[in-house]
Amino acid sequence: MLSGAKKEMWLELSGVTKRFGDDLVLKELSLSLEAGKVYGIVGNNGSGKTVLMKCICGFLTATTGTVRVFGQQIGVDTDFPESLGVIIETPGFLTNLTGRRNLEILADMRHKISRADVRLVLKKVGLDPDMKKPVAKYSLGMRQRLGIAQAIMEDPRLLILDEPFNGLDKHGVAEIRRIILDLKQSGKTILLASHNEEDIRILCDEVYEMDAGVLRRMDPEANP
Ligand SMILES: Nc1ncnc2c1ncn2[C@@H]1O[C@H](COP(=O)(O)OP(=O)(O)OP(=O)(O)O)[C@@H](O)[C@H]1O
Ligand SMILES: [Mg+2]
Repeated sequence: MLSGAKKEMWLELSGVTKRFGDDLVLKELSLSLEAGKVYGIVGNNGSGKTVLMKCICGFLTATTGTVRVFGQQIGVDTDFPESLGVIIETPGFLTNLTGRRNLEILADMRHKISRADVRLVLKKVGLDPDMKKPVAKYSLGMRQRLGIAQAIMEDPRLLILDEPFNGLDKHGVAEIRRIILDLKQSGKTILLASHNEEDIRILCDEVYEMDAGVLRRMDPEANP
């Protein structure tokens, strides 16, 4: 018989629905994410991927059901879970400041990492920490890299990445893939939404499809 060791679940959704007026956008979703795995979500525009991710982070409140991150119930035990890194849609920055200054301000508020760590994470995502340009003058891909730097800078155990490859060139995609694989190897749990099947195939241990608010595990044998 198998040993009774219980797998550690870092994210557990149970019966989650989300309604906007008459619009039922998430339909009774249940999902458990195990430590150290990368999970992909694919699905059509408007199927509910981003809404799901916002419910996990506490940016939206689920209409029914529970969301637990590291055992803490969102909206009850915590508003924003500790040790969670997030990139959802275009991250908001203070656009008149440099990327480094933006990250320093966030780092100073939370007292978890130093100025030196901010420089390191910028280099990791391929941004020059000494670049003087304000974020307003960044290209889409540069902003996306800065968003990824923000999501990973405090070394969170769980990462929610909504379309992290948006706007990146080939080189950028390869770099960010490498970063995600490194994070996976270091034991992080990652939930990734992407329209790019190649990213999903390369990076994910399990793939789910969101279909009009219903989440289904995709057959691992089936070629997407
Ligand atoms: N704040 C909101 N108020 C009302 N409806 C919303 C709100 N946010 C999202 N929706 C609706 O929820 C549905 C799902 O949107 P969502 O952004 O989750 O789609 P998605 O799967 O992420 O699509 P995409 O692939 O385009 O990113 C859409 O019909 C959208 O209009
Ligand atoms: Mg989306």
